[in-house]
Amino acid sequence: MKVTMVGTGYVGLVSGACLAEMGNDVLCLDVNAEKIRLLQAGEIPIHEPGLDVMVERNVKAGRLRFTTDVARAVAHGTIQFIAVGTPADEDGSADLQYVLAAARDIGRLMTDHKVVVDKSTVPVGTADKVNAAIREELAARGVAVEYAVVSNPEFLKEGAAVEDFMRPDRIIIGADDESAIYLMRALYAPFQRKHERLVLMDVRSAELTKYAANAMLATRISFMNELALLAEKLGADIEQVRRGIGSDPRIGFEFLYAGCGYGGSCFPKDVKALISSAAEVEQPMRVVAAVQAANEAQKQVVVDRVTARFGSDLTGRRFALWGLAFKANTDDMREAPSRVVIGELLRRGAEIVAYDPGAMPQARRVFADCAGLSYAGAPMDALEAADALLILTEWKEFRSPDFASIKQLLKQPLVIDGRNLYEPKLVRSFGLEYVPIGR
Ligand SMILES: NC(=O)c1ccc[n+]([C@@H]2O[C@H](COP(=O)([O-])OP(=O)(O)OC[C@H]3O[C@@H](n4cnc5c(N)ncnc54)[C@H](O)[C@@H]3O)[C@@H](O)[C@H]2O)c1
Repeated sequence: MKVTMVGTGYVGLVSGACLAEMGNDVLCLDVNAEKIRLLQAGEIPIHEPGLDVMVERNVKAGRLRFTTDVARAVAHGTIQFIAVGTPADEDGSADLQYVLAAARDIGRLMTDHKVVVDKSTVPVGTADKVNAAIREELAARGVAVEYAVVSNPEFLKEGAAVEDFMRPDRIIIGADDESAIYLMRALYAPFQRKHERLVLMDVRSAELTKYAANAMLATRISFMNELALLAEKLGADIEQVRRGIGSDPRIGFEFLYAGCGYGGSCFPKDVKALISSAAEVEQPMRVVAAVQAANEAQKQVVVDRVTARFGSDLTGRRFALWGLAFKANTDDMREAPSRVVIGELLRRGAEIVAYDPGAMPQARRVFADCAGLSYAGAPMDALEAADALLILTEWKEFRSPDFASIKQLLKQPLVIDGRNLYEPKLVRSFGLEYVPIGR
């Protein structure tokens, strides 16, 4: 099938590569000329396991191409995916300018039947707006071309995006047009050969499903984070509590880890957008609002632990920081707790030596030439003469470190762990003071 992917970011590039992998003829469009130049030169602008080889294979086979040429992109695909960003606007609502610009481009240039698929995370009612934008462009040209608008929210996780797209738990299709449904079924059939995972529904329900999923997951995290702080005060261990409740099949083990707050490009903005959508129709979302507030507070927990120990003026203090990405296996630092921690510690005069296996190039862009922040080439290199080690991302390579060397290298034997990576007894047996969350 001929597929155009409008927006070649985390979602667009992964979806485009995976669709090409199944034999489709995919053209990825982006307005970011530098990104397209990199991709055309064989470089991958993001860190995502398995993506580089898949892109290379499909580019070689001629099934995956990249362009900045809008007319070519609109002409190419019968299926036009819109996978552009939907960042939070100033009031927290989803900013739809990129989605609607993409829709207008399609309406302005299409000459044959198109199925336009919203893959971006968009508030309920966006498919209607996309529909209207295309209709207006066609009317302005005085032409009638058939098209359908479908909602197909994406559920891939950064860090496991290729795996998630290739083996989806479910594929949500919101559509009412029979021929569009037929095409979407055919497109996704190779991804669900064992058993059907396509969940067909109306467009508005599909749009809401994506926000419901992210808000539910964020709720579990914030719930566990608050419970962890309570466990500390009551002398309980959140890890034991987690195991105790996770074994209940109604609760399950997923997404029950206490930590220093959720980040990333999705949960924070989607939670905000859901609250904003609800406010527009005067429907309070008390639980979700509390989830957001709890998360904002949780991002401060590591800072609070540092200041509780060293005072609020951190001049002359030096901290080793492991983990910049908002979670493991990604270079994405959008809304990462590390940004709050680094900002706060630097503001208080501290010096930070950071290490992250994937996100350091990204951090260099985010923090530019920020005085007081430098980077280490290896985890242990960050530790020398530091007053404490702070851990903010759960990368595998941090999980079994050489504790004896950590003790030796640190100026003060203090580990503040925002991800609960270690067994407290074990760390303490090396003479380290260990401050996890909720244990
Ligand atoms: N990142 C994730 O893990 C994830 C998962 C599920 C859903 N989503 C949703 O998918 C959408 C995209 O997210 P992302 O993380 O891939 O964003 P991203 O910022 O990585 O990529 C978006 C791309 O769209 C491009 N773009 C913007 N306007 C364009 C236009 N008119 N034409 C062509 N390209 C254009 C941008 O230059 C950018 O490269 C968002 O709505 C997000 O909420 C993201």
